[in-house]
Amino acid sequence: MKRILVTGGAGFISSNMIRYLLEHTQHQVVTMDALTYAGNLENLDDVISHDRLRFIRGDIRDIHDVAEALDGVDVIVNAAAESHVSKSIEQGGAEFVTTNVVGTQVLLDAIRERPVERFILISSSEVYGTAESDPMSEDHPLNPRSPYAGTKAGGDRLAYSYWCTYDLPITVIRPFNNYGPYQHPEKVIPRFIIQALTDQPLTIHGNGQASRDWLHVFDTAEAITQACEVPLEQIKGETINVATGVDESVEQIADMILELLGKPASLKANIDDRPGQVDRHIGSTDRAEQLLGWTSKIAFADGLERTIAWYRNHPEWWQKVLAAEQTAQTV
Ligand SMILES: NC(=O)c1ccc[n+]([C@@H]2O[C@H](COP(=O)([O-])OP(=O)(O)OC[C@H]3O[C@@H](n4cnc5c(N)ncnc54)[C@H](O)[C@@H]3O)[C@@H](O)[C@H]2O)c1
Repeated sequence: MKRILVTGGAGFISSNMIRYLLEHTQHQVVTMDALTYAGNLENLDDVISHDRLRFIRGDIRDIHDVAEALDGVDVIVNAAAESHVSKSIEQGGAEFVTTNVVGTQVLLDAIRERPVERFILISSSEVYGTAESDPMSEDHPLNPRSPYAGTKAGGDRLAYSYWCTYDLPITVIRPFNNYGPYQHPEKVIPRFIIQALTDQPLTIHGNGQASRDWLHVFDTAEAITQACEVPLEQIKGETINVATGVDESVEQIADMILELLGKPASLKANIDDRPGQVDRHIGSTDRAEQLLGWTSKIAFADGLERTIAWYRNHPEWWQKVLAAEQTAQTV
């Protein structure tokens, strides 16, 4: 049994990760979250009073918050981040730099002072930019194309440098695009589902042919749990993709959602392409299989159907998130 600090626990991936750890392992879990606009304590509603979970409101950029959260911790999974590509394009990189780079640095320096058994940094496939080879292995060049991706690449290589320089027990995980329950409606799959459920146009950037390797968040949670548990020597200093090896275009996804919900294709609406767009993303799965003994289990069609069912059954969850967003825009 280990004590695992998962940062960003009120967000999408970490809340699913925490639920997974509590259901499938005996580990103690601590989570620290600054509760930004993307942090939602309702994402943890069903587990918040679990006797193996402790929630701390705190900021990874604050050394005092970090010191408190680190008490008794064996493993850190740093997933707290500013995570929305479009927001980084519209607002610039300031918050992205402080959380995704400086926050990572604060945690890394904290473990120089107070060692842990292992540190897992949740990076992103966005660090690669558009695929130059297919599938993209971990040795693919890093050509981040948005401020979000640039800051993720900064945190990713900073963590690697702390392994090289200080021999710290660091592993970098690069998940490809995640989807599943509790994902903020700003992201494309929940946005399309909600637009289809409410008969609003599904707005597609450019011609909709940009494709991604879509990974169900339960698969991601399982892969990260493996990274917490496999022998350290197997993964120390390694960078590992978490991917399916299959890609789907944004337009294909819109079509599938409309079909599964029995809505007309005329709801699709193409809008201007997003600057800094990545055209194609498909991840190599070999290293994760070799080092984590992990491959994805949930096929996209199945995962999408389950995700649609979740959003259809939880309208109060996403209506509240959308209402909070509206209020934030009007004040
Ligand atoms: N969602 C994806 O498709 C995807 C894919 C690859 C990698 N990632 C990475 O996975 C991680 C989680 O992504 P997500 O989609 O769940 O993000 P999210 O936006 O849903 O959640 C991020 C959480 O971090 C918290 N947070 C933000 N700044 C903080 C700070 N300074 N201190 C403490 N907490 C802070 C927010 O309150 C929120 O709860 C991120 O590192 C992201 O870059 C996500």
